Amino acid sequence: MLILAIESSCDDTAAAVVNGPDQVQSNIISSQFDVHARFGGIVPELASRAHIEAIRPVVDQALLEAGVTLDDIDCIAATRGPGLVGSLLIGFTFAKALALVKNIPCVGVDHMAGHLLSPFLDENPPAFPYTALIVSGGNSSLFAVKDQTSFRLLGRTRDDAAGEAFDKVAKLLGLGYPGGPVINSLAPKGDAEAIAFPRAWLDKNSLDFSFSGLKTSVVNYVNRCRQKNTPLAVEDICASFQEAVVEVLVEKTILACKGNDHKAIALGGGVASNSRLRELMLKRCEQEGFSLHIPAPIYCTDNAAMIGLAGYYLFKQGTILNPDDDAYSRSPLN
Ligand code: KG4
Repeated sequence: MLILAIESSCDDTAAAVVNGPDQVQSNIISSQFDVHARFGGIVPELASRAHIEAIRPVVDQALLEAGVTLDDIDCIAATRGPGLVGSLLIGFTFAKALALVKNIPCVGVDHMAGHLLSPFLDENPPAFPYTALIVSGGNSSLFAVKDQTSFRLLGRTRDDAAGEAFDKVAKLLGLGYPGGPVINSLAPKGDAEAIAFPRAWLDKNSLDFSFSGLKTSVVNYVNRCRQKNTPLAVEDICASFQEAVVEVLVEKTILACKGNDHKAIALGGGVASNSRLRELMLKRCEQEGFSLHIPAPIYCTDNAAMIGLAGYYLFKQGTILNPDDDAYSRSPLN
């Protein structure tokens, strides 16, 4: 069964052709990196405009690379939410219109469901049930994944997402955007114990996250250095900040896995590319006897292949969109 999948929830326009459920025939991503870089973050109105320009060529490219035409497609899957509504509406409306014209079913996929199932696009997927940590520029959430369509939220950030904290600290240090990859590359040159940044464990056994206090602590540290005219040890700041984020992400994920009697952990979202997160999570999983499943970076970041995969199961369930169904900015799952 051939699915054309479309994702436009934030700043990437993506389309994929997936032979359901998980055989990816093409996976095209058009990044808006150049549009937003000079603003140090995503500008929603510019994101919507860039999606309008990119959506048609990206879909055409996905069909071309898969060696199929629209007439071969059995179902269209599109991200329905959560995300920037202006961005979502471009891909979602495009998908519904195509489906209407071609008289084929269209399914509306929750972006989080795509991330939760993305390990199945790679070799070595986890066995159900498993614990999933989704960490990106917009989300830091823990889920119990029971099967392909049943997900339970265990905890989420109460303020900033982990990727957002990486981006804001990088901006403060003048390291550019997006901040995660550059902090990740500088951190190994610094000392992770040089600065005692706080870890927000919150209430005992809480599976929620909070990164705004850590971010403020970095701001205060940098301001103090500047007031005293002390040179900034950027690499030490990166290493100490990264360690504070990663330690909390890892320990809460392990706690969630133990508490739910799961045996496997999956990661998703752009921050799942972080090498220190991968290293520490692997070490702790080995200690606890859990298996760890991290998709390739192309499936960690926003992509349409994961939307096609999750869309396949919605289609099998019979959850088909009506033409007047709307997109949503907040996920019912989150
Ligand atoms: O999932 P994603 O591609 O899309 C959005 O959420 O929009 O995640 C992007 C986020 C950004 O905040 C970026 O700084 C972060 O993921 N990121 C990383 C790394 N690579 C990307 N954070 C830490 N370490 C990385 N290696």
